[in-house]
Amino acid sequence: MNATGNEDSQNIDERITNEMFVVRSLDEIRFWSRIMKEHSLFLRLGFRAEDTQLIEEANQFYYLFEQIEQKSFSFTNQADPGQIRLFNSEVQQAATSIFLFKRKVLQLILTCRLPGANNFPLLVDHISREANYFRKRLIELNEGKLKPLADAIIKENVFFLRIMADHAKFIGHLLDPSERKLIDIARNFSNDFDELVFQARDLESMKPQSQTGPLLDQFLDQNRVSVASLRDFKKTARDLIEECKIKSIIHPLLADHVFREAERFLAIIDMFEAHLTGKKHSG
Ligand SMILES: [Fe+2]
Ligand SMILES: [Fe+2]
Repeated sequence: MNATGNEDSQNIDERITNEMFVVRSLDEIRFWSRIMKEHSLFLRLGFRAEDTQLIEEANQFYYLFEQIEQKSFSFTNQADPGQIRLFNSEVQQAATSIFLFKRKVLQLILTCRLPGANNFPLLVDHISREANYFRKRLIELNEGKLKPLADAIIKENVFFLRIMADHAKFIGHLLDPSERKLIDIARNFSNDFDELVFQARDLESMKPQSQTGPLLDQFLDQNRVSVASLRDFKKTARDLIEECKIKSIIHPLLADHVFREAERFLAIIDMFEAHLTGKKHSG
């Protein structure tokens, strides 16, 4: 190949890398800014009527992430990477702010300064972990640092399996106590995912020796089966709540929210599987 040919292929490589950076960034921001916006709503609904300051702060975060969400849709995949880099760091700051707000609320709850408020401490901790995940993701994207595949597989699964275990616990606790059958199913999911979290941590502790193709492949397969069945349960619960067929204090938007997070985890598992084996899964 002559010098010009080299240059051409270099330009093409650079264009692909730039476009992947833009696509990845916009995808993360579109998904997680909607999630952050909804967290603000859930927090607000859990405050007491007299917590006007906290309600105001939650409302401000709602509008902040709504604006971010709208702005993310004004960019296309061909957007200038420099502009996206700036946008990422702007959103990263917003994610850091909402993370700090959630930790402050957790502190207030755990020191019994919000008696009678309706957000579980574990839920507030959970949504702060999601904010932290989002901000770290944006930092990684801007630094252009990609974790090695085997590391990413274990780390993402440890994170998301715990998120799924929490969801099962929230559903179980927010259903009306008279919904005995559904509470039983939720409790089984909670136990199942607690075990998967421990299994994932064991694999993590056996790193790097545990990072073989067959072990990682089996790890993903096993997790996929449980996540797909939890996703289906969440979908059923969401539909039943929307149709007002079950008794609970679960906001319909919360039911849909945890369903979307399970879908996201499944998509991540499938992406890892495709990278690992070069084959595609559906489901
Ligand atoms: Fe969430
Ligand atoms: Fe969640």
